[in-house]
Amino acid sequence: MKKLLVDVDCGVDDAQALMMALAVPGVQILGITCVHGNTSIENVCKNVLRVLKVCKRLEIPVFRGAATSLFGLTVGAGDFHGKDGLGDAPDPQAPGLELVQKEGAVSAMIRIVDENPGQVSLVATGPLTNVALAVKLDPSLPKKLKNLYIMGGNTDSRGNTTVCGEFNFAADPEAAYIVLNEFICPVYIATWEFTCYSKLPWDFCDGWLAQDTDKARFMTQIFKHSMESSQSERIEKELVAGQGFISCDSYAMAAAIDDTYILETEHKAVTVELAGTYCRGMMVVDHLDLLKKTHKVYILKKVDLEKFKVLMMNALK
Ligand code: BDR
Ligand code: CA
Repeated sequence: MKKLLVDVDCGVDDAQALMMALAVPGVQILGITCVHGNTSIENVCKNVLRVLKVCKRLEIPVFRGAATSLFGLTVGAGDFHGKDGLGDAPDPQAPGLELVQKEGAVSAMIRIVDENPGQVSLVATGPLTNVALAVKLDPSLPKKLKNLYIMGGNTDSRGNTTVCGEFNFAADPEAAYIVLNEFICPVYIATWEFTCYSKLPWDFCDGWLAQDTDKARFMTQIFKHSMESSQSERIEKELVAGQGFISCDSYAMAAAIDDTYILETEHKAVTVELAGTYCRGMMVVDHLDLLKKTHKVYILKKVDLEKFKVLMMNALK
């Protein structure tokens, strides 16, 4: 049984990643911690509960975490994910926030890892604020984690939020810096460029959504807004690696679920630019080992996309 703790800023692709993990029988989600990012922390908590409701898994504990970055800022991604983070397609029967645990996300993260030393993998698909706070409160946390999987950062200067910054890192550069420099457990990173180069064809997406299930109907509703944004990006913005559908957070989740999915990684020391006029929040890869860091991370380069498609399909079955 794989034990996961998932930290999300539940936008549409976080929902897709969660649904992927919830559909795998050999995966046990010990808790879902919420963090600011794509939308407000209240919306993130509500969105996670909506996902758990459609997957009939409301017994999984949900914890509220940081409402802002370490510097007190929020970014938001309403243009893409919808103002509520899930495509502005509300469910009048959505579960209420009273289902969120009283314990805070950071303390729950530390406690759950403590209760299962060496067994828990943390999957972080939002800004890294909760994860950074957790390691500051408990510096021994990384040693007790099995693996850390992150969706975020970039390998060249290609941003998707600022000129050079990927959303999750740009939303809290200090938190990303702390995590990349203090987590000495095995760390796997699905970067923005990696997800762009691993796009799935739009006709796969059509078949995925056409499944005759409540989960597929839910996904069709919440995905409409961002799907239209991605499709208009085809025309308006630079296209990275051609057309196709990207579920960014699902690439990191799949790595945590299936040990045979990663085919190729680069093992490099990385950090985050905290200053700079244009590059604040950019992940920096130390190709020449000039930083003399002993700890290196695994940057995903190639994965088994056929296995990924099966995990995606099963998420909505
Ligand atoms: C990341 O930014 C967010 O909008 C997505 O949920 C994903 O985690 C992609 O850069
Ligand atoms: Ca996310």
